[in-house]
Amino acid sequence: MDKGIFETVEALCREHSLSHGEYKSLIEGYSPELAAYVAARAVTVRRGIYGNSVFVRGLIEISNYCKNDCLYCGIRRGNKNAERYRLTEEDILECADEGYGLGFRTFVLQGGEDAYYTDAVLCRVISGIKSRHPDCAVTLSLGERGCESYRALREAGADRYLLRHETANREHYARLHPPEMSFENRISCLYTLRELGYQVGCGFMVGSPYQTADDLASDLCFIEKFKPEMCGIGPFIPHHDTPLCDFPAGTLELTCFLLSIIRLIHPPVLLPATTALGTIDPRGRERGILAGANVVMPNLSPVSVRKKYELYDNKICTGEESAQCRGCLDARMESVGYKIVVDRGDAPGFEI
Ligand code: 5AD
Ligand code: FES
Repeated sequence: MDKGIFETVEALCREHSLSHGEYKSLIEGYSPELAAYVAARAVTVRRGIYGNSVFVRGLIEISNYCKNDCLYCGIRRGNKNAERYRLTEEDILECADEGYGLGFRTFVLQGGEDAYYTDAVLCRVISGIKSRHPDCAVTLSLGERGCESYRALREAGADRYLLRHETANREHYARLHPPEMSFENRISCLYTLRELGYQVGCGFMVGSPYQTADDLASDLCFIEKFKPEMCGIGPFIPHHDTPLCDFPAGTLELTCFLLSIIRLIHPPVLLPATTALGTIDPRGRERGILAGANVVMPNLSPVSVRKKYELYDNKICTGEESAQCRGCLDARMESVGYKIVVDRGDAPGFEI
């Protein structure tokens, strides 16, 4: 191994900070040996904070209607082949009730940007979940909304918000999104969410079309600066009905390498081994945990809609019942020496 790179990793472990150029050289210096070294350091750091606990989040995919037209995403409004659905308030509460019985203490409501879910509707759903299950956290992943909307949802009881920044490079952002979507607004939403007291998650796809090592270095610099409580990263996977269908998928190796680096940049970060990682490799989620991730997010959506929430091709777990996914993940985590815990799994400093 090149000694320079080795020293860069040591500096990262010590300082939790590198320059843009150093991040870039780490990424360009990828080798299986370097990745194994960084993963070992990341696992030690994660173990010091979280032991062998893995947090679990029940993902409820509330709607695949979306007003946006992101070029990579299977539920973009321009995809006329997508079969659209939305869950009712009662459906969502039922999913949460089922999840509670399965040991979930965080529910993630995720969906496209669907105008049906006004603040009034969402506030009812959020306070409904919180009053039935006061020991649970509610996470929202519903895209860009206004400050007053974020405030109302927070006041109704939402604890966390996931909004991937997608890429920290403005020009790259413009190649992945239609002109009406703005990088500035995306980033400004993240800072607004933070000011409102949410635990905030950003994130990006690995191997997205046109992505360079420079872009990834910018993502890492952004994470170093923003210090998100959560960070969602998973491989880009092409969807057959999108303009970017012919681009190759991101790799397991690079995704795991980046998970390790992010753990070292911001040790307490809640870092999921994503469904996309499980989709490109049958043991992808286990590999993610072994690289430094500490969260898994099984699907709690009704089986009848799962295939329709198709952001990318061949998504896993679309035929399984919630209880099956829960049991499956328990076994998968145990197979690599980790244990899923029944806990809200708040970011340090946000515990109740
Ligand atoms: N491949 C991988 N991830 C995708 N997402 C959307 N489309 C794809 C795709 N084709 C991710 C985006 C979004 C999150 C909900 O899913 O990063 O923020
Ligand atoms: Fe869904 Fe394994 S996590 S079947």
